[in-house]
Amino acid sequence: MAPAAAARESRPGRVRCRVAPVGRVRVRDPGRRPLQLSLVSTLQAPDDLRAALNGLLDGLPPTQAAQAVDRLIAAYRGATPTDAPILRDASDVAAYAAYRMPATYAAVRSALAEFQARAGSWTPVTHLDVGGGTGAAVWAVADTWQQDTHTSTVLDWSEAALTLGRELAGGADSPAVRAAEWRGAPLGGAVSLPESDLVTISYVLGELAPADRTSVVAEAARAARGAVVIVEPGTPDGYARVIAARDQLLAAGYTVLAPCPHNGTCPIEGNDWCHFAARVNRSSLHRQVKGGSLPYEDEKFSYVAAARFPATPAAGRVVRHPQIRKGQVLLDLCTRDDGLSRSIITKKRHGDLYRAARDADWGDAWPPAADEHGGPGDPGVPSDLGDLGNQSQP
Ligand SMILES: C[S@@+](CC[C@H](N)C(=O)[O-])C[C@H]1O[C@@H](n2cnc3c(N)ncnc32)[C@H](O)[C@@H]1O
Repeated sequence: MAPAAAARESRPGRVRCRVAPVGRVRVRDPGRRPLQLSLVSTLQAPDDLRAALNGLLDGLPPTQAAQAVDRLIAAYRGATPTDAPILRDASDVAAYAAYRMPATYAAVRSALAEFQARAGSWTPVTHLDVGGGTGAAVWAVADTWQQDTHTSTVLDWSEAALTLGRELAGGADSPAVRAAEWRGAPLGGAVSLPESDLVTISYVLGELAPADRTSVVAEAARAARGAVVIVEPGTPDGYARVIAARDQLLAAGYTVLAPCPHNGTCPIEGNDWCHFAARVNRSSLHRQVKGGSLPYEDEKFSYVAAARFPATPAAGRVVRHPQIRKGQVLLDLCTRDDGLSRSIITKKRHGDLYRAARDADWGDAWPPAADEHGGPGDPGVPSDLGDLGNQSQP
């Protein structure tokens, strides 16, 4: 099963993370491509997290909540880094959690699903969330490794964020989320992080000065005993920060397990940037702030997940919405050996692989595991990617 599909499926006992196919819809790929047909999935935050977040807005007049979000958006648009927390008080963090946490949770959860699919039986016993704020990654890690026990520690300089994160976590179903530790700590050049199996840094690097960013990633690379997962907004700037962090992790001896199928230079050039999307249901607060009637929005994110332990990345990764045509599926892939390539999977030639291609999503590993399409497949072995032809992307 492809990793994104793995997150989508509920294994026995896995009931908290749901990514539900919502059918074929017309989507516009950011920047480049015309309208195309694609299968898009929704990634729901766990029920207990959603209930806790809904409770945040209870009793708060809707206009007041919307104003708090507007203030926050303005603060994030302002010059960063700041020398004091943007999340200063209870209303800032309530607005952040209600408005942003489902989306940052979904991005981290998606990245972890892709990482987990390559990491085999590896599980973290200790997890450190750097700049963890209200704890989106704590919930995502607990959801990814539900069967295993681990402890999470959140570091952040915003006491208000830590207080709310602790409060939200207190009502969680997961013992790991309930037991998370919340510690006040500034991040910067002199930062010293406790050693942990897994270090996550989500939506934080953009808030740090470039030199601090480098120091924090270097320190995360030192402190992680197993893996580092970094998630940033899926913008050109976010991608640039991810690529710089990826270079640091490679220099420190890590292997990139996702999204890249290789440890080489990223083949994406020019005005393009590597990013993915997690579809998140919009809350009434979202609809109020953003207007429009869509019941969802797509959270764009860039990420890198790298490990110290031996593991093999996928042979390829779908880097755009698949294009589904009559009897064929066009997959734009980043590949281990051929850089960016277009793979054409046809009903006539590829049988089960064609059926798998029709289910493939932007961000999935490709080809899927052998048990999904009955043919040769992942993990690890570059096999039938489809007809690569001469269709390398510009
Ligand atoms: C956009 S929020 C992301 C929060 C969380 N990681 C998530 O994904 O939802 C950025 C977080 O980084 C924290 N942060 C930013 N600069 C920091 C610094 N210099 N020291 C400690 N925390 C910092 C902020 O307080 C905030 O909680």
